[in-house]
Amino acid sequence: MEITNYDLHEYIMQNHTKEKRIVREQGDVNTTPERQKYWDENLSGQALEIFNADKKYFLHQSLSTPVLNVLSGAQGIYIQDLDGNKYIDMHGNGVHNAGFNNPEVIQAVKKQMDANMTFCPRRYTNIPAVNLARKLAEITPGGLCKSLFCPGGSEAIEMAVTLAKQVTGHFKTISFWDSFHGAGFAAASIGGEEHFKGGAGPMMPGAMHVEFPNYYRNPWGFTKDEDVDAECLRQIELILKREPGVAAIIGEPISAAPAVPGKRYWQGVKELCEKYGALLIFDEVIEGFGRTGKMFACEHFITPDILVLGKSLGGGIVPFAGMITLSRYDVCPDRSVGHYTHEKNALCAAAALAEIEYILKNNLHENAANLGHYMMRRLKAMQAEHPLICNISGTGLHIGIDLVTDRKTKERAIDEAEIIMYKCMQKGLAFKTIEGNIITLRPALVITKEEIDHALDILDEAIRDRRSDK
Ligand SMILES: Cc1ncc(COP(=O)(O)O)c(C=O)c1O
Repeated sequence: MEITNYDLHEYIMQNHTKEKRIVREQGDVNTTPERQKYWDENLSGQALEIFNADKKYFLHQSLSTPVLNVLSGAQGIYIQDLDGNKYIDMHGNGVHNAGFNNPEVIQAVKKQMDANMTFCPRRYTNIPAVNLARKLAEITPGGLCKSLFCPGGSEAIEMAVTLAKQVTGHFKTISFWDSFHGAGFAAASIGGEEHFKGGAGPMMPGAMHVEFPNYYRNPWGFTKDEDVDAECLRQIELILKREPGVAAIIGEPISAAPAVPGKRYWQGVKELCEKYGALLIFDEVIEGFGRTGKMFACEHFITPDILVLGKSLGGGIVPFAGMITLSRYDVCPDRSVGHYTHEKNALCAAAALAEIEYILKNNLHENAANLGHYMMRRLKAMQAEHPLICNISGTGLHIGIDLVTDRKTKERAIDEAEIIMYKCMQKGLAFKTIEGNIITLRPALVITKEEIDHALDILDEAIRDRRSDK
């Protein structure tokens, strides 16, 4: 059985440690010669001035500063740079489900500001906050009904874990290698990327990790989905038995790559949680609110004990996140699991409500399902033509294209993916690569079939320009 360049981290480190450490699990980085070439060819005048000022005054980090380019606006499915170039943005950091600067969300935010009820001091509530919590209880599945809000996804994950500890009396966690759940100390401990932990010393005690069920790339070379599921579940159970005291298993229902597990896998995980007294936490910070073709990704699988939401919850305008759980876990009134200043911010709640109403009114989750199928069909046709494309995965408008230099060995086409990314940008299509070689396509859910065709024409042309026939 062939094991194919599986260990991503080791592979990337081996290939890129000569001069500088380049770690690309989470996204494309700003330390490569290709990035420098992009800057040299694209930044001049005022854009270059702002770019340099940003570089001077912000702390540098490989995934954000120095930045890619300078933006002057964003509308619908597009971002626009300072020189007036527009790009269909298939990344949007996951906040753009209802489109950037959605007029109805902006209207709701303005109305809330005019009503002089924006920040709400702790110990008080307000109408938008209550309406939002009620709305989430109505639209989330399986009896989820008790919410708690906070500014960001990282904090929401940490609140969920804190609640799981209180409920179970345990403190350990199991989560997945290569996952990302936020940059906070506990969230980074739960995340499976060295990038956010290296050099930081001991992280949260008891944070353990397992493989995500990936049917296309897995360390065992298994080709049958059920073999992958069985091995992944076996390893989880091994930890639950040998390391008793696990409070929660935490994962995105579909990984960021995206690897899409079968329903039976998550059912198996839930059964193990019940058997060993742990809670199941789903991180839908990216996948919630229609992205996967259903309002919540868990609807493809099972209802978790705690569902974590973020990003698009703030309508792409304000930062907002939170968690929702079952009433039976409302068990620690004498403690605080999410003591955040903005937990009932009326402005954020108004933005969130407007976003949710817009998605529901326009059936954006259905649009994601339909256009996701369409996109898959077109990508499969491209795959037949381009040997570089080895695997296409995803659900709804949450799609990944795995590029390889050789389909047999599945060697990751890291350099090619980066070149294609910049070629696409030149032609008006922006996206992020992850794990070095995977192009991720996550447009705003307001996108049309014509716009998808245009985006895929750009991608097709860029791949054609950089064809590697093996
Ligand atoms: C899956 C997932 N969870 C959590 C987070 C953290 O969210 P935030 O950046 O709002 O803290 C992110 C952010 O990218 C994410 O992608």
